[in-house]
Amino acid sequence: MDKNELLSDIAKQISLCKNCELHISRKLSVPGEGPISSRIMFIGEGPGFHENQQGRPFVGAAGKFLEELLENASLKRNEVFITNVVKCRPPGNRDPQEVELEACSQYLDQQIKIIDPDVIVTLGRFSMAKFFGNVKISQIHGQAKMIDGRLIVAMFHPAAALHQPVLKNTLLSDFAKLPDYLNQITKKDEEIKKNKIENLAQKHENTEQPTQLSLF
Ligand code: URA
Ligand code: SF4
Repeated sequence: MDKNELLSDIAKQISLCKNCELHISRKLSVPGEGPISSRIMFIGEGPGFHENQQGRPFVGAAGKFLEELLENASLKRNEVFITNVVKCRPPGNRDPQEVELEACSQYLDQQIKIIDPDVIVTLGRFSMAKFFGNVKISQIHGQAKMIDGRLIVAMFHPAAALHQPVLKNTLLSDFAKLPDYLNQITKKDEEIKKNKIENLAQKHENTEQPTQLSLF
């Protein structure tokens, strides 16, 4: 299976999944969407009313604001991967429970492995906790941490800014840092490649020496 097939296969498994109680009240599961080539992945909390109706992530009010935030980071929605920590809607938009997060995490882990993004942005506390454990969003938002070869950035949830307008500017300025984070990773990759080539050249020189010496 190629990577696109693997992603579709995960989406199919999610649509049939009954591993936690959230399957009972879902209309449609929401696996997430975006191209396989996405260098950046956004992870929210879980589907809300509209997402459950349409089977797509961030299509309601929070999604509208997310699109504005993406634009502010010179990113297009169709070039990033967007998903959630739980793929089925918690009834009444309640918080996802620990058992549900645990039951669902295998799908997100597989999606991360297949897409292998350079940067992961967590939106809200549940996806933040997956990478950062028990920390305060007010202390780490917008900062990037290198974990397993990629940058993880915790951000406030876009829906939070709809209730607390002061967070809107915080989110806008945190998102504006994303192009810079992507550049940092690109530079790092280039450095690693350059080092590899230099090492190879060095090895080549070393292996050539004995033949030269044997001339004497
Ligand atoms: N909020 C989320 O966390 N995810 C969605 O998909 C929509 C709203
Ligand atoms: Fe399965 Fe996740 Fe949906 Fe629970 S939330 S039923 S684990 S896909």
